[in-house]
Amino acid sequence: MLETNFNGKTLDILEENILKIKEIFPDVFTEGKIDFEKLQQVLGNYCETENERYNFSWNGKARALRLAQTPSTATLRPCKEESKDFDTTENLYIEGDNLEVLKLLQKSYHNKIKMIYIDPPYNTGNDFVYSDDYKDNLQNYLELTGQTDNEGRKLGNNSDTNGRYHTNWLNMMYPRLRLARNLLTDDGVIFISINDVEIDNLKKICHEVFGEENFICNFIRKGSGGRQDSKYYAIVHEYILCYSKNIGDFISGEEIKENEVYPFYDEEKQLKYKTQLLRKWGENSKRSDRPNLFYAIIDPDGNEHYPMLSENEESCWRWSQTKMKEEISSGRVEFKKRNNEWIAYEKIFEPTDDNPKSKLFTTIIDDISNLTGASLLKELFDEKIFDYPKPVDLLRRIINIANCKKNDIILDFFSGSATTAHAVMQLNAEDGGNRKFIMVQLPESTDEKDEAYKAGYKNICEIGKERIRRAGEKIVGANSVRPKDTQQIEMETGEHCSPLQKLDIGFKVLKLDSSNIKKWNPDYENLENSLYESIGNFIDDRTELDVVYEIMLKYGLPLDLPVKQLTMPNSQCTIYLVDNGKLVICLSENISTEIAKFIVQYKKDNSIDEMRVVFKDNGFKDDSSKTNVKEILKSAGVEEFVTV
Ligand SMILES: C[S@@+](CC[C@H](N)C(=O)[O-])C[C@H]1O[C@@H](n2cnc3c(N)ncnc32)[C@H](O)[C@@H]1O
Repeated sequence: MLETNFNGKTLDILEENILKIKEIFPDVFTEGKIDFEKLQQVLGNYCETENERYNFSWNGKARALRLAQTPSTATLRPCKEESKDFDTTENLYIEGDNLEVLKLLQKSYHNKIKMIYIDPPYNTGNDFVYSDDYKDNLQNYLELTGQTDNEGRKLGNNSDTNGRYHTNWLNMMYPRLRLARNLLTDDGVIFISINDVEIDNLKKICHEVFGEENFICNFIRKGSGGRQDSKYYAIVHEYILCYSKNIGDFISGEEIKENEVYPFYDEEKQLKYKTQLLRKWGENSKRSDRPNLFYAIIDPDGNEHYPMLSENEESCWRWSQTKMKEEISSGRVEFKKRNNEWIAYEKIFEPTDDNPKSKLFTTIIDDISNLTGASLLKELFDEKIFDYPKPVDLLRRIINIANCKKNDIILDFFSGSATTAHAVMQLNAEDGGNRKFIMVQLPESTDEKDEAYKAGYKNICEIGKERIRRAGEKIVGANSVRPKDTQQIEMETGEHCSPLQKLDIGFKVLKLDSSNIKKWNPDYENLENSLYESIGNFIDDRTELDVVYEIMLKYGLPLDLPVKQLTMPNSQCTIYLVDNGKLVICLSENISTEIAKFIVQYKKDNSIDEMRVVFKDNGFKDDSSKTNVKEILKSAGVEEFVTV
């Protein structure tokens, strides 16, 4: 007899048996499926595996690793119309899937980013998790975002009924984190917002990608309300995981503190100071925890002095060897004798204008509510344009925690409503800094039912760009800047201006697309036509500026470098001067020796010592023009001659 349940479906006996096993052995289930090897073990059947070792793995990890290492076939195309101050700004807004974008930035931004902040999907089941296509990830992106057939596919949620719930998320995050790490400077740092759903998995992959020794801390912050969604307790906190690129080089930012007591006095510096042990104490203070922070400094008797926890137990210093050298020579290290032993201390001076009062930031952030993020955005747009934006104050705090200096680059590759860009501009306005931002965001469609869609924002990039425009205008519109911050500041040129006069509120928009350079992809049915089409080097609808930026990427040049366009008098020929003429690109037709002479004259007039020149390969009038152009440039000291 078949049993029927109320929804009209037959009872699934297999499912019921599985549920029974789950009741007795919940630990043998992984992502909703039985791990039969584990089941054998819990039933006492131990099968020794020789390869047993500590590791964290999931279905697809090896493929995700391979994906991170496969070069991208894409490029970034500049879009002047959607940019603000295209010719002068040093900020970037990049539209595209961040995996491909991170690959493209590898050369230009290797070791250049001081701080990365990301707020990826938390994988709550309601948010969408991008799935990469291992065969052709760029084509996948173009199809998903409707750039091939203008339809675009609905980006689905990674719901928890899906058996590969955690796996999909890990496969998405893992290659992106690996690529992101390469971009950090040696003293760089990454912050990742997350909640309980993936914190454990995230920490495990971060330990692997960044190294356990580079784990700095896990900040806890007050997140959204939580009372309605929480089942047992009102969960009102979330996390921000923090890793350095190189712990020995990382210096944490410090918070300003009032009313500190300074018991000592430094004659030379004429400042009061207090002291703090120079060797590490508490957690991670053994030599084995930080082997590269164990080294000798010279004590006042001229002997080598190592950090020691006790007579026999080796410890480590709080500073890298390079920083220690700098601090010793600037008089910030003091030796004091205790029980006939020298002990090294850091001198912490009383504050001056150059050295403000400071203390360590704490790992609990409970004074910034998510509500301020939402209300600020609503104020800027007059409607609820984006769900759950992070508060600008949170990002501003993180930039300080990261110890970002005034010229550092800050990257956010899950940019959403571009809160990070807003915070960078706000902080620059307050302290006269020139920090630059790079935002990366997928043009994820907004839902037709959403207020954003109704207000004309068809995808999240449109929201992000408009937010930066509005926030920038608002910041320079004086209201949001405190009076003390409008003091005059000195610029590199020696001139003085107010922070707002030099504030960069522009951004260059670049969009992910297939390469501008034609692939040899013959149609064997119509070979003649294919041969004919392959004569032009570039895809038809691409502009010269598109190709210029692709060349910059290939050379590994930062994309915020100035690109000037110059047309040769009485001709159709245009040259592009990248980085004030250090790289010259000419993609015109009929290239003749006249152009070479024009470039040589420009080199002389502007005293450019090192110059590289790129020409379109089939742009030369004929072979002898090519040879002559090359000779003229060579004799004028041009370093490199390249054709594309
Ligand atoms: C939680 S939101 C970030 C919110 C942001 N911190 C703010 O304050 O507005 C995550 C964003 O990442 C974007 N995203 C998801 N997958 C992406 C991908 N593969 N490439 C680029 N952006 C992606 C989503 O469209 C979403 O806007």
